Amino acid sequence: MSTQKPVRRITVPQIRNRKGQEPIVSLTSYHAHTAAIVDNYADFILVGDSLGMVMHGMESTVGVPLDLMIMHGKAVVRGTKRALVVVDMPFGTYEESPGVAFRNAARIMKETQCGAVKLEGGKRMAETIRFLTERGVPVMAHIGLTPQSSHVMGGFKTQGRDEESWPEHEEDARAVSQAGAFALVLEGMVEPLAARITKQVDIPTIGIGASAECDGQILVLEDMLGLNPTPPKFVKVYGNLGGQIEAAVKAYAEDVKTREFPTEKEVYR
Ligand code: KIV
Repeated sequence: MSTQKPVRRITVPQIRNRKGQEPIVSLTSYHAHTAAIVDNYADFILVGDSLGMVMHGMESTVGVPLDLMIMHGKAVVRGTKRALVVVDMPFGTYEESPGVAFRNAARIMKETQCGAVKLEGGKRMAETIRFLTERGVPVMAHIGLTPQSSHVMGGFKTQGRDEESWPEHEEDARAVSQAGAFALVLEGMVEPLAARITKQVDIPTIGIGASAECDGQILVLEDMLGLNPTPPKFVKVYGNLGGQIEAAVKAYAEDVKTREFPTEKEVYR
């Protein structure tokens, strides 16, 4: 008989209850091996639609299909056992109506076994957030710089530089919180605005390029590992994975060329 206790995943209510408590640690992850490492330290792991750019070389997140999110979501859930896994709803899968959003969110949750979904938008998405949460789909909201709207916004621009725009962002934050979102990503936002929003809503705010005033932080894993040669300016780079991969590949190429390669006996241990 096994004496090992199963490790329970961090739940949506546990994340919601961290408001104003110990900062929430989160990172993106798109694949099983990296997710298994991140799982040891993160409260939640986001399978972000940034995977379109990071994993698939797309120019923006707009072209990411639902099936791709589901495929990477499955990999991350399989690779982890502790963190809450949140999967992004890609552009075009939730904006049309609450019913369409529910159908696609239910597919994501059933097929990946993730614990929640994330979608972009403030006031305009409040009705959909309420519809989903009332039907068993926990929703993380995302406001400020919303990459899926980059064509409308004219690129990736820090939000809130102009104080006159603050009330609109604050209204967005209150609307998604009142609609039942359990957490709120604030992306690319000036510090005083992020601080004001964090004070005004009773759900945790998760910052990315939005200062340390938030209740938690998220970064794109490949950016903070040093794999992206041009990471956003706000990213603190903690590793040099790009350099390490380059050195390893170079050493391998030299070994192959000089026939310094494992003998057949050593290949499968
Ligand atoms: O897709 C993503 O990686 C995200 C984070 C930037 C929050 O939405």
